[in-house]
Amino acid sequence: MSLYKKSFLKLLDFTPQEIEKMLELASTLKAYKKKGIAHKLCEGKSVALVFEKTSTRTRCAFEVACNDLGMHPVYLDPKSSQMGKKESIADTARVLGRMFDGIEYRGFGQTIVEELADKSGVPVWNGLTDEFHPTQILADFLTIQEHFGTLKGKKLVYMGDARYNMGNSLMVGCAKMGMHFVACTNKKYFPNSELIAQCEEVACATGAKLEFVEDVEKATKNADVIYTDVWVSMGEDASVWQERIADLTPYRVTEAVMKNAGEQCRFMHCLPAFHDLNTEVGKEIYEKFGIDCMEVTDGVFESKQSIVFDEAENRLHTIKAVMAITLCDEEKIASLKK
Ligand code: CP
Ligand code: NVA
Repeated sequence: MSLYKKSFLKLLDFTPQEIEKMLELASTLKAYKKKGIAHKLCEGKSVALVFEKTSTRTRCAFEVACNDLGMHPVYLDPKSSQMGKKESIADTARVLGRMFDGIEYRGFGQTIVEELADKSGVPVWNGLTDEFHPTQILADFLTIQEHFGTLKGKKLVYMGDARYNMGNSLMVGCAKMGMHFVACTNKKYFPNSELIAQCEEVACATGAKLEFVEDVEKATKNADVIYTDVWVSMGEDASVWQERIADLTPYRVTEAVMKNAGEQCRFMHCLPAFHDLNTEVGKEIYEKFGIDCMEVTDGVFESKQSIVFDEAENRLHTIKAVMAITLCDEEKIASLKK
């Protein structure tokens, strides 16, 4: 199960053993980083970081990871490359593939990242598309493992828009790793039936359980993790705010929700989060709709049960593992002692 030269586009493409292997390497690389041991596993390589949407964590994780791996990153921002505007995805892929050892892509449709991988001839890593955010899930799972010791059997409840990249990817990840996934939301926001069917098939083999529940009290009881994300994602039109607020306010993560879940429960969020009025969008929404938080209350976000910053840090270690495992052969990876 070598992942050398493979792309990382969505978790559906990987076996549970391969996902475990990436998490294990992330954990080793994290220990190296904490001890200050340099390794420069990918010395001399160069990678392109293509961002058609904005980012803090993902971009920083890729850039810092490149430095730790001894690689040179070239960042292409959402406006200044020719991609899509004057040059097709296929042509861009063939150009980047001639210059770089790997390509990260954050942007819109999953078909774009798939085409980049198909045409470039080098490993491509999905840094978020409308459909999937797989590097985020690796960070989330490393964090859950660190806090609970295991993934298998853990109950993860996702509240909010479960049809988009985060809901989809968490459902796939939980199915792969034999977890108990619950989408707790208004039924308009359940993942699409085709993806649910694919995940049900995976779940049959791994022992995972998938549920889709509108009742908050029932869904969140005894949850190990309650997870949420913004109600309106990057690239969506601002006109959807009103409907989202009306539909998803009953699915906000509040102190009552956490209490109903129990003391063992941890709060997770991929971030950025709207939990107070210290953001431009937060203030705008407050002025228009009179709400001082959106998907999570400030109390839950700042509580001891919240592990969102452990999760954010783990973006670095897991993204580093994904680049290393796809750019280095097995021998090179094995040279890192645990
Ligand atoms: N969670 C996440 O992907 O954050 P950024 O949008 O800041 O990269
Ligand atoms: N669903 C969010 C995730 C951000 C990390 C978005 O796509 O904007």
